[in-house]
Amino acid sequence: MRAPYRIIGLISGRGSNLLNLINKASDYEVCAIISNKQDAPGLKYGAQFNIPTHIFARAQFDTINSLKAAILDKCKQLNPDLIVLAGYMLIVSPEFVDAFYGRIINIHPALLPKFPGLDTHRRALEAGEKQHGCTVHFVDKGVDTGPAIAQAMVPCLPNDTEESLAARVLAREHEIYPWVVKNLALGKIKFNDRSIYYDPEVIAESRTLDFILHDEM
Ligand code: GRF
Repeated sequence: MRAPYRIIGLISGRGSNLLNLINKASDYEVCAIISNKQDAPGLKYGAQFNIPTHIFARAQFDTINSLKAAILDKCKQLNPDLIVLAGYMLIVSPEFVDAFYGRIINIHPALLPKFPGLDTHRRALEAGEKQHGCTVHFVDKGVDTGPAIAQAMVPCLPNDTEESLAARVLAREHEIYPWVVKNLALGKIKFNDRSIYYDPEVIAESRTLDFILHDEM
């Protein structure tokens, strides 16, 4: 039997993407949860699903860099197949990227390269965008700049508020993130530092599910 594909979820807050990844885990397992916030609501899923949690609160460390170094050490010790950022609000350190490049992914609530950073839904509405969405990408040393794996779009509707648009995007996040993780686990999406390989089945499925792959962005 093949060894399970082990992922770690890194969170800072609510953890709805983490919960969704746990609920849909079939070809991978969530082996640990790491939070940089003591009171992140998503930590409760550790207790609920019997997944070890590791908290690195700012107050325990002299500097933000020493906190980031401790998180990196923990990740090295856990040695996962994949690190999944799920509402993780710290920018990962260059050392972290060096250690895990190609094995760290993030979900960002915008159609990158549009709207990197914060407040994406408000900014999309203010810019009068007709389409908005989310992007799953490999993490590099920039902020929301790494190679994009897949995107899902939603329309911006005339009466949208930041909240209504965020909810529409989040529903798509919950479809696309476990789909990408599953296909990485199965080796049907691969990354060789330069380009992303998609198995023909993944390409076909992306059309059915209305996801956009790297070459189509
Ligand atoms: C999501 O919108 C995700 O795209 C962004 O942060 C938010 C996290 O939400 N990176 P949750 O904590 O997963 O509910």
